[in-house]
Amino acid sequence: MNKIRVSITERVEAAKDVVRLKLRKADGENLPVFTPGSHIDVFLPNGLLRQYSLLNDCRELGAYEIAVSKAAASRGGSSCVHADLKEGGFIDISEPRNNFSLRIEHRKFQFVAGGIGITPILSMIRYCESQGWDWSLLYLARSRAHAAFQDELRAIGGTRVRWHFDDEAGKLFDFTDPSFAVQPGVPIYCCGPTPVMLAVEQYSNSQPNSPAYFEWFAPPAVARSNEVVDTVFRVKLHRSDKLLVVPESKSILDVLQENGYDLPCSCREGMCRTCETIVLDGVPDHRDYVLSNAEKESGRTMMVCVSRAHSDTLVLDI
Ligand code: FES
Repeated sequence: MNKIRVSITERVEAAKDVVRLKLRKADGENLPVFTPGSHIDVFLPNGLLRQYSLLNDCRELGAYEIAVSKAAASRGGSSCVHADLKEGGFIDISEPRNNFSLRIEHRKFQFVAGGIGITPILSMIRYCESQGWDWSLLYLARSRAHAAFQDELRAIGGTRVRWHFDDEAGKLFDFTDPSFAVQPGVPIYCCGPTPVMLAVEQYSNSQPNSPAYFEWFAPPAVARSNEVVDTVFRVKLHRSDKLLVVPESKSILDVLQENGYDLPCSCREGMCRTCETIVLDGVPDHRDYVLSNAEKESGRTMMVCVSRAHSDTLVLDI
């Protein structure tokens, strides 16, 4: 993975427990272009690798902006950002990747953001504005103090932004409430905590004309853990003509790495698309959160960090 050295040129508190960082290339050159919904990998000083969405206007070539919420149960990522990434410091990042791109054929969008899930949505809203496209946003947060970018959203969106603060409402937002009605044909783009994503998924499933697209923070494993069964299968590596066995307890990626194959990977949870591998034969059992349904049905690629096989053998382009 190509690393880009950047300096942190600005650090501000964007809301309670949320910091916003502005990054510029250390050599003063422009950063690679990105599309709305993109994220970057950030190589943190404590050795962890984390993905954060870009929130700024994708037409801005000189800077990336990210915002990071300090997780109550941080596994070391957000706590390191809050403690160690200071204005004037330097870090390495990856080039932007996009698993959450706008389907521009729609030109009208319903956005749903939960908490820090506003970051990719903010970039999308800026892009919609630049194109003159229609949009509306439902923004959910624990409280006003936790909701970042309120002034910007009010200035850009006015009444197109609907706010829901759990503490003021005394409850979580109810997606079955008739006041939340998405026009048929309008896609929903959602990013937020797992309960919000699952509620939107359920809403979308009941409205076949309102497709939903998601950017997951973390795999919704708890909600789906009973649905998956792991079995043994084989992978044939086409380019090196090798046959490997993948036991129940290991991923394809584990087995490849044990056998000396240095495949790019990052999240190891089916969320970042880094380990995407071409499938030449066999039927993958997709368990990632990044491929669209159409991509899964085509079976042309798979995320080898989490996905397995429905067929006895998969032939991979490795
Ligand atoms: S390493 Fe992130 S999807 Fe496989």
